[in-house]
Amino acid sequence: MKLFDVYPINDITIEKAAGSNVWDDKGTQYLDLYGGHAVISIGHTHPHYVQRLTEQLHKVGFYSNSIKIPLQQQLAEKLGKVSGKGDYQLFLCNSGAEANENALKLASFHNGKKKVIAFRKSFHGRTSLAVAATDNPKIVAPVNETDNVVFLPWEDQQALEAAFRQHAVSSVIIEGIQGVGGINVASESFLRRIRSLCDTHNAVFIADSVQCGYGRSGKFFSHDHAGVNADIYTMAKGMGNGFPIGGIIIAPHIQASYGLLGTTFGGNHLACAAALAVLEVIEQEQLIQNAQQVGNYLMTQLATLPHIKEVRGRGLMIGIELPEALNHIRKELLFKHKIFTGEAKPNVIRLLPSLALTQLQADQFLAAFREELTK
Ligand SMILES: Cc1ncc(COP(=O)(O)O)c(C=O)c1O
Repeated sequence: MKLFDVYPINDITIEKAAGSNVWDDKGTQYLDLYGGHAVISIGHTHPHYVQRLTEQLHKVGFYSNSIKIPLQQQLAEKLGKVSGKGDYQLFLCNSGAEANENALKLASFHNGKKKVIAFRKSFHGRTSLAVAATDNPKIVAPVNETDNVVFLPWEDQQALEAAFRQHAVSSVIIEGIQGVGGINVASESFLRRIRSLCDTHNAVFIADSVQCGYGRSGKFFSHDHAGVNADIYTMAKGMGNGFPIGGIIIAPHIQASYGLLGTTFGGNHLACAAALAVLEVIEQEQLIQNAQQVGNYLMTQLATLPHIKEVRGRGLMIGIELPEALNHIRKELLFKHKIFTGEAKPNVIRLLPSLALTQLQADQFLAAFREELTK
């Protein structure tokens, strides 16, 4: 059987990984500033993570949500503590798209309304409503098309106010920092305006934190920089450091009832053990502070380099916009300097490393990048 050929891949096979490094099948070492698309939060094969998962696997790996799973409550408590949102409620699922799908559906159950406001260049996943709220017609199949989603220009407060006047808005979904869209940071004033309009119109503020959350921005949720609380936060990627787990946390005023949401795999023993290990390491090693410090250092150093059009981001979610003539640099970084980075179209290098990246590793990247820019 052949694989369904949907991924344009690099000709590299990774066989070993530790911290912010990976090794290919020929033993070549790479610096990983991509983290398999912002997934590796605490570093590859972290010993505590490996130990906790191994121990759990020897006890029980999976059972469905038809029995008590105390690890879920432990995870909810730890997440409440580390995120500072202890009064929220946790629902566990398996991926970012599924988290957003559940958030949008729950919002509509809650207020009985249909319209979703999303923004230009957004990415919320590939399932039906999540993809309908994603600003990329190429990945929206005819069956996903719906006029329940209204797209607005990024950061346009007037358009936002007009949309609330015109539609019965169920929810507003926004990434605190757009990832796939090219690392665009939502301003504090825009997020605050969303909060106040949602309050006035009984709409649900959904903070898509799948990529920008879990400490990556230097705060637990990137929306926290605006000093407002969303009603629902969606999470995945960094949550399991590679183990597939997603979730939403839900403000206390939104109520649960039996059967409202559900999943077979979500919240299984092994997934919870992985997510707990991640939060324990984030706490013990102060990785949110590290993301802020090393991120600030990188941004400051990048600002001194020539030819760069713009550096955007927060913490360890950084976008470097290059002129078109330099769009070969990402390949040079990978194949010559052995450094993985991410990309966003048309010409943005995305840095999404582990939150444990050291200044020394940041310097390794800066030296290689400087060499390419000054050639
Ligand atoms: C902001 C955002 N939301 C949702 C998703 C979808 O997550 P998943 O691929 O786990 O379904 C992504 C994935 O890149 C994302 O960046």
